[in-house]
Amino acid sequence: MSKQEVILSEDLVKSLKHAIDKCPHDKLFILTDEHTSELCMPRLRGIDFLSGMDEIVIGAEDVHKTIETLAFVWKRLSDGGATRHSLLLNLGGGMITDLGGFAAATFKRGFAYINIPTTLLAMVDASVGGKTGINFNGLKNEVGVFAPAGSVLIDTYFLRSLDQRNLISGYAEMLKHGLISTEEHWAELLRFDMEQVDYDYLRELVGRSVQVKEDIVEQDPFEHGIRKALNLGHTVGHAFESLALEEDRHVLHGYAVAWGMVCELYLSHVKTGFPTDRMKQTIQFIKDNYGAFYIDCKQYEALYAFMLHDKKNTAGVINFTLLEDVGRICINQTAGKETIFEMLDFYRECMGM
Ligand code: GLY
Repeated sequence: MSKQEVILSEDLVKSLKHAIDKCPHDKLFILTDEHTSELCMPRLRGIDFLSGMDEIVIGAEDVHKTIETLAFVWKRLSDGGATRHSLLLNLGGGMITDLGGFAAATFKRGFAYINIPTTLLAMVDASVGGKTGINFNGLKNEVGVFAPAGSVLIDTYFLRSLDQRNLISGYAEMLKHGLISTEEHWAELLRFDMEQVDYDYLRELVGRSVQVKEDIVEQDPFEHGIRKALNLGHTVGHAFESLALEEDRHVLHGYAVAWGMVCELYLSHVKTGFPTDRMKQTIQFIKDNYGAFYIDCKQYEALYAFMLHDKKNTAGVINFTLLEDVGRICINQTAGKETIFEMLDFYRECMGM
């Protein structure tokens, strides 16, 4: 997979010109959703080299990450005269970058696209690394391809219009990058004040966070090995998300990942010796900023079943990424049902349930 250029932009127009000039094209499209079309698109309107660009607007949020929306985008590309030499800009959160990337990667067997993420989650995770796709048959990201963007253009100015909950949600993936990288980065992330956001400092942290992801993706673009480090917190996190969906409780992805990290740090502690003090410090930060997802022991079986169905598993064995310490990653770890139930007991106890 070719390496994508990630640009931490200081000047949106200049960075966009650079990214677009690298992708010669016959026709330019931009994919937005009903929110980014209103909130973010105004920053792009009036830029001379974007004149004539065709805007495709779709519904916002994960419920629209469907085959129907994808077909709508393909239709608009087809009606708009897109060819294999066209270029698509994806302006939005992870739903837009995933679905837009998939649309571009498949239309006429694929043409180039550029991601312009507008949420923290998309900036540090979804838009980087070439994973594209849609939800299908009730399963998240069930159909998709690996197809890197030509460029990922990160302009943290967009974060100023992001609501607090989505900011905190995206920050969970940054915390994950801290845990899997260095003690220094992990510690600076724990010191960050989420109540009084210093956007200039956040921009620096985003830069370092994206670098962690880029380094890992470069080593293992197709997730055969070390890219699994990025799954820390996600095995349990996805189970929490699935339970929340089943029970009609709205949970943002990053919150579920944060609660999943509480569980998986406990597993790391008992199985691979993750130090108690660092586990406690990280869990305290999560409790302070993410609150807790309420579960009782009657839901353990359901959570266990969701973990068993995770697409990262092979041969019915639940696959975890654990840590020996900050930055010391152990992929392909397993745990039996009894240990998983103990982990859920730990979660409930330390979250005060
Ligand atoms: N979101 C995890 C990855 O890109 O591998």
